Amino acid sequence: MSGMAFLPSPVVVRVPATSANLGPGFDALGLALTLYDVVEARVTGGGVSVEVSGEGAGDLPSDESHLVVRAMRRAFEVLGERPAGLALRCRNGIPQARGLGSSSAAIVAGIVLARGLVTDGAARMDDAAALVLADAIEGHPDNVAPCLLGGFTIAWTGERGASAVRREPDPRIRPVVFVPEERGLTETARAALPKTVPHADAAFNAGRAALLVHALTGDPDRLFAATEDRLHQDYRADGMPFTADLVARLRGEGVAAVVSGAGPSVLAFGVDGRTPPPVPGWRVLPLDVDVVGARLGGAA
Ligand code: HSE
Repeated sequence: MSGMAFLPSPVVVRVPATSANLGPGFDALGLALTLYDVVEARVTGGGVSVEVSGEGAGDLPSDESHLVVRAMRRAFEVLGERPAGLALRCRNGIPQARGLGSSSAAIVAGIVLARGLVTDGAARMDDAAALVLADAIEGHPDNVAPCLLGGFTIAWTGERGASAVRREPDPRIRPVVFVPEERGLTETARAALPKTVPHADAAFNAGRAALLVHALTGDPDRLFAATEDRLHQDYRADGMPFTADLVARLRGEGVAAVVSGAGPSVLAFGVDGRTPPPVPGWRVLPLDVDVVGARLGGAA
């Protein structure tokens, strides 16, 4: 490590919440939302400190085990640098463990902060490499891709890791997120999935996922049909019956509603001012699509 490797001043990143799957696009499709964590990091002479305010304050660790710190360490390894110490301040707006990409936001924040703290970090790690690393830490690319790139993303994994393309979502689309009190673990929700699925269900989802790309990027009237899924939501319903009930109820009213990521939040699409009705007992967040993704700079 050279003494000139790091910026002397703190860097700040803003990272968006994300909703993955969007119904049929399991582990592939994702949308960035206008709800954010903001994290400031600086290199210090030694030790690690993490201050958390907002969502997760009091629950999240304040040492090396904090996910932002772990992601920073992995990114510094790739960049070939080792800071003596780190100090972080996290102002979290993304509800934790609700299927809104809080862990992906922490991972992307850590990678972008590490890259921003190294003087020529952006030249040494481009967004494609950052996405590969983020996916390697998270285990699936459908939240980290929209978190990093913003907008609507289609992600896939090949021999060299994750890749993604970003598409501009139709501006008439208004995502509304319903957030329950209950938390959910992605590992538990993934464990509920079968090892194999009927060919007819795979074919059903392939058609719906293709239609969803069309609907989200210019034909939102097709969103209701495009958000049908047979690959994950029903298998997970027993683990979050209140979520399955809300999705069924909204869909019964003609609203294109899906489980957000692995749940238990629900994502519904409003179009042209027709927003879904409020639901008692759920925190209802009318949002927009974030079109920027992870953004370095600004104030903590
Ligand atoms: N595609 C992932 C899953 C998203 O459904 O398990 C987790 O947020």
